Amino acid sequence: MNDADLDTTETLEQGPTRGNRLYPRVTSFRSRRGALTLPQQESWDRCWPELGRDVGDDRLDMDAWFGRSAPVVLEIGSGTGTAAVTMARAEPHVNLVAVEVYKPGIAQTLQQIERTYDTDTPIRNLRILRGDAVEVLEHMVAPESLTGVRVFFPDPWPKARHHKRRLLQPPTFALIASRLQPGGVLHVATDHAEYAEAIAEAGNAEPLLTSLDWESPISHERPVTKFEDKAQRVGSSITELVWGKIRA
Ligand SMILES: C[S@@+](CC[C@H](N)C(=O)[O-])C[C@H]1O[C@@H](n2cnc3c(N)ncnc32)[C@H](O)[C@@H]1O
Repeated sequence: MNDADLDTTETLEQGPTRGNRLYPRVTSFRSRRGALTLPQQESWDRCWPELGRDVGDDRLDMDAWFGRSAPVVLEIGSGTGTAAVTMARAEPHVNLVAVEVYKPGIAQTLQQIERTYDTDTPIRNLRILRGDAVEVLEHMVAPESLTGVRVFFPDPWPKARHHKRRLLQPPTFALIASRLQPGGVLHVATDHAEYAEAIAEAGNAEPLLTSLDWESPISHERPVTKFEDKAQRVGSSITELVWGKIRA
């Protein structure tokens, strides 16, 4: 996201009206217009009914959606899906849910999934939720139901006046921790040094999270995304943070 865009529109994001609830609040993303290309739209039309859902108020029945019972891992802010697609392939035993607000990014993810259908290893274990991950966690995900949560390169909102928009703050840590099963894992990666410190502080202060001193139930192997590649080329170092949900 281009920081210059933000200066012209420093407002509270007006959330959508759902039912009779209206919830204006600061969100970790800005609405971005994004038209789909024709191939993206065609892929969307073919895949979305099976693979995607819009955020809603109802609890998701993950087993029914995936057509099987398996450990569920949620990736927040999956962008164009590079990590989600690679990791879904590497972890066929996991039901992976990618959450993203940016429609063209989701469309690119669908295209990548579709491309695997002609291969020997079609991806069948990845689903996509379109909307705010905070709402997803609050309304759609049952407490203590997730084996893992991944947040790779959350928008750093580097200006002090935008810090309130950061996704990874104490209330989000509490929410994520409440949705993790005991022994489940939260894996975060960021290229922003100051945000990394703030994330570490908030994560370490969350009473339901602890350092992981047992074998992780999820893989920590990430592919390098285009976003990360760009960060590395300008010399940013990457910080990886991992916590486990307390087991007793
Ligand atoms: C900096 S990008 C990183 C994308 C991807 N993880 C990567 O490494 O390439 C952050 C992404 O998080 C998404 N995002 C930000 N806040 C979100 C939220 N509350 N719920 C879902 N997605 C969100 C943005 O739309 C954007 O695609």
